[in-house]
Amino acid sequence: YIGFKMPQTHAISHTKAARALMIDAIRDHGPVTLASSMGAEDMVLVDLIATNDLGIDVFVLDTGRLHTETLALVQQARARYGIDFKMYVPDTEQLQTYLASHGPDGIFNSIDTRKTCCAIRKVEPLGRALKGYGAWITGMRRDQSVTRLGVPDSEWDEPNGLHKYNPLANWSSEDVWAYIDQHKVPHNPLHKQGYPSIGCAPCTRAINEGEDDRAGRWWWENPDTKECGLHPASENPAPTKSEVSS
Ligand code: ADX
Ligand code: SF4
Repeated sequence: YIGFKMPQTHAISHTKAARALMIDAIRDHGPVTLASSMGAEDMVLVDLIATNDLGIDVFVLDTGRLHTETLALVQQARARYGIDFKMYVPDTEQLQTYLASHGPDGIFNSIDTRKTCCAIRKVEPLGRALKGYGAWITGMRRDQSVTRLGVPDSEWDEPNGLHKYNPLANWSSEDVWAYIDQHKVPHNPLHKQGYPSIGCAPCTRAINEGEDDRAGRWWWENPDTKECGLHPASENPAPTKSEVSS
């Protein structure tokens, strides 16, 4: 039996379940779109969507502060999969007003300033990206951090007014990387330099061994506050447009 490899039944059932959940989303709530940060999880979903011809759109919130490597991956993935990655950029007026008061690195002054930056660069564009869709898909996993323990397979997203699906909710990081290796999925080179979770450049750093996957995101903040408003817990609703522009 030396050299005999067990069939990857675990991996196959995970992949089938993720695909089945996306097919359910289309059947029950189509049209459907994927929010892609171009992270490892989202690349697995892009690969599943493109290779199975699921007819799910893909968008990227181009915050203006993404790593060069992330933008290069958008270019590479467009060529590989032949699908559109629709880029959503922040509202110019909101951004100019914000930058005039706080400057580009005002994000380090207070949690409020940081959250306002996320509200302008991510949350408001997200609202535009989701218009016209019945459901959206994310790459969130339960074992990424303390703020993600309760991530369900699917839920009603009240702030955005549509359904939300998390097909990889029960995947481990090992599951994600096994899929990427097996299917030769293009991915961000920063992952292999100690960045399991990649957001905007100024707010992301490499993690140390034993830290959770999102420890390098907003590392100066308390672990319990580290969400950007894209995925608010119900007690922590996203800011409204009037709060964003005030
Ligand atoms: S977050 O705090 O930035 O939201 P994370 O990077 O763990 O967390 O991303 C979780 C999911 O949110 C991703 O799998 C993706 O679906 C969505 N997401 C995060 N950032 C972006 C982005 N810039 N563009 C599109 N989707 C994003
Ligand atoms: Fe701004 Fe940082 Fe949020 Fe990106 S992650 S939108 S740079 S505060």
